[in-house]
Amino acid sequence: MSALLLSGREASAAILAALKPKIGKLDPKLVVVQVGDDPGSSSYIKQKIKSAAEVGMRSEHCHLASSMSLEELLSKVAELNADPDVTGFIVQLPLPDHLQPHVPEIIRAIDPKKDVDGFGAYNLGKVFLSKEFEHLPPATPAGIIMLLEYYKIPVAGKHVVIVGRSNIVGKPLAVMMLNRDATVTVCHSKTKNLSAITKQADILVAAIGKPKFITGDMVKPGAIVIDVGTSRVDGKLTGDVDFEVVQEIASAITPVPGGVGPMTVCSLIKNCVQAKERQMKDMQTNI
Ligand code: GUN
Repeated sequence: MSALLLSGREASAAILAALKPKIGKLDPKLVVVQVGDDPGSSSYIKQKIKSAAEVGMRSEHCHLASSMSLEELLSKVAELNADPDVTGFIVQLPLPDHLQPHVPEIIRAIDPKKDVDGFGAYNLGKVFLSKEFEHLPPATPAGIIMLLEYYKIPVAGKHVVIVGRSNIVGKPLAVMMLNRDATVTVCHSKTKNLSAITKQADILVAAIGKPKFITGDMVKPGAIVIDVGTSRVDGKLTGDVDFEVVQEIASAITPVPGGVGPMTVCSLIKNCVQAKERQMKDMQTNI
């Protein structure tokens, strides 16, 4: 039997439609900073700008030369922090090779009130302290939570196994799941006997970055499988899960594309609205 398809396109369309009146009222503006011409980044950014336009949100693609220095990029960040018309902004990753080692410094420079990716220490720290998303949660894990909520899939008491421990997906998602009463196991490149652990998962999240890494023999029959992978194989977007095989084993699965990707964009837009609401209430004293 084939698994239920967890469509991020459908879920994000419903969530964004409900958000549209608020966007009309608050008029937030999103800026996406791109340095250089990474083809993957160009395609994600196109999607972000298109989705913003579809819900009537103002957005701007700030495309900078790949030769830009760290100082120039930090000065752009400072300019966006100071611009009262900019509600939120992101610096699309990866950056060109000479800037990539400075990503922590660049993220640190972004005002937490405008950090709509939710990558900075303030917004990541808030994930620890609050189940509710009253801050700006990291976009991809928050999108996964919203997707499960949309499909009314409970997580309390479930064994959630996350493969991948990045600061922007695996780690914050583990905390979000814990906050929702799941039992969580986080696996990574040094984990021994990986498939013995993934096979215990009621909900299996693959955030590894290796195409088709999760094979059928790693999945428990009836599990829910969330694929965060976005590798390009022969120009085709490919997930971390061997979809064709695993869809016959799982009870529900996200496709790639059309699963987690649209939920990340949805979270980004939702964060922008939240940022504008907070800026209007002048919550500065809470930071
Ligand atoms: N690169 C891939 N996904 C993302 C994302 O969600 N935000 C940023 N800033 N860069 C990315």
